[in-house]
Amino acid sequence: MKDAWVKDIELADTGNDRIEWARRHMPVLELIKTRFEEEKPLEGIKIAACLHVTVETANLIKTLKAGGAEIALAGSNPLSTQDDVAAALAREGIWVYAFRENAEAYYDCLDAALEIRPDIVLDDGADTIARIHELHPDWLHSIRGGCEETTTGVIRLRALEKSEKLGFPVIAVNDAETKMMFDNRYGTGQSTLHGIMNATNLLFAGKKVVVVGYGWCGRGVAMRARGIGANVIVVEVSPRKALEAAMDGYQVMSMRDAAKIGEIFITVTGNTSVIRGEHIELMQDQVVLANSGHFNVEISTKDLESLAVSKEQVKEEIDEYKMADGRRIYLLSGGRLINLAAAYGHPPDVMDMSFANQALAVEYIAKAEGLGRKVYGVPIEIDERVAELKLEAMGITIEKLTSEQRAYLSSWDLGT
Ligand code: ADE
Repeated sequence: MKDAWVKDIELADTGNDRIEWARRHMPVLELIKTRFEEEKPLEGIKIAACLHVTVETANLIKTLKAGGAEIALAGSNPLSTQDDVAAALAREGIWVYAFRENAEAYYDCLDAALEIRPDIVLDDGADTIARIHELHPDWLHSIRGGCEETTTGVIRLRALEKSEKLGFPVIAVNDAETKMMFDNRYGTGQSTLHGIMNATNLLFAGKKVVVVGYGWCGRGVAMRARGIGANVIVVEVSPRKALEAAMDGYQVMSMRDAAKIGEIFITVTGNTSVIRGEHIELMQDQVVLANSGHFNVEISTKDLESLAVSKEQVKEEIDEYKMADGRRIYLLSGGRLINLAAAYGHPPDVMDMSFANQALAVEYIAKAEGLGRKVYGVPIEIDERVAELKLEAMGITIEKLTSEQRAYLSSWDLGT
């Protein structure tokens, strides 16, 4: 393996302090770590992970290491690596290949991590799994499985499965209820607004905020934007989700109509070019464009570049594109995911559940036999266990079914 590639190993102490703060807010993962320390379920397992290198990820990596795994970690986005965290992990003997602003070296980092020749892959966006299929087809038969963290990655992997080219089993960790309903909704909701506020310090109250996409992430962003007084407009392609947004009390309209009146635009679709030239042409002066989807393809920077007569960085994280008619369009963080580029990503209390699912899914793959080359959901027992442990950590006791109720629910003659 190559020596770690991090920005500055001297940042490790700061990283450690921040990782420790997050650890205190990730009680479910901590319980798993304690068990892993005793049982060592991952002894002898090599893991290549491509994740956002944050304090929360550091706690996942430490949990897997406690379970006996050997781990190589690459950053999963050019702007999301927290350099102090990368340094702290490298100092603990993790093979880390991650530094902020590594757009040019992104694939070199991924390839360096893959030198571990993984048994299990942890992915966020499916780039690592795609890379293995592309460059190392001879490894496919020996890889026990992978875990995918995000909606975008799961979409890509399901497409690969459909084309019958998926080479090993993958657990769609994203789709666990204890991940999607909380991380995607409350995590993205809070961290996206945090990122936009950090970058711009603009007031949301009274502004027309256009949320493009009403999946779990969009629901969270819309809910939080409304919470601080924005007038939220939702743009959606799915009739069911659009209807839900309308009944949740938002204005729902086409992207063209929203483009004319919006002041802050936030994309969370997982799709490409949802804001493009035809919309940019209709926008008002000084609108703000931010993306919180995994890849920087949701806002067409190509169209922005071709429509603009000039581009200037007016503030850290803000590029101003000036149009021929004088209008100024502000793009945040180059269209990369704003919650990690201009803020800290999702808070530890919510990543606790996501990464508990990841750790348990890795253990499941390590122990499972006979999994096919398919995308699997997280086993329901894992999802339920994560919810139970989180409730326990939050000091919440829930109601239990009586034996009469259990019998009633499992009986056919409900009416008698
Ligand atoms: N994705 C979104 N927020 C994250 C975080 N805090 N850590 C890792 N991945 C994330």
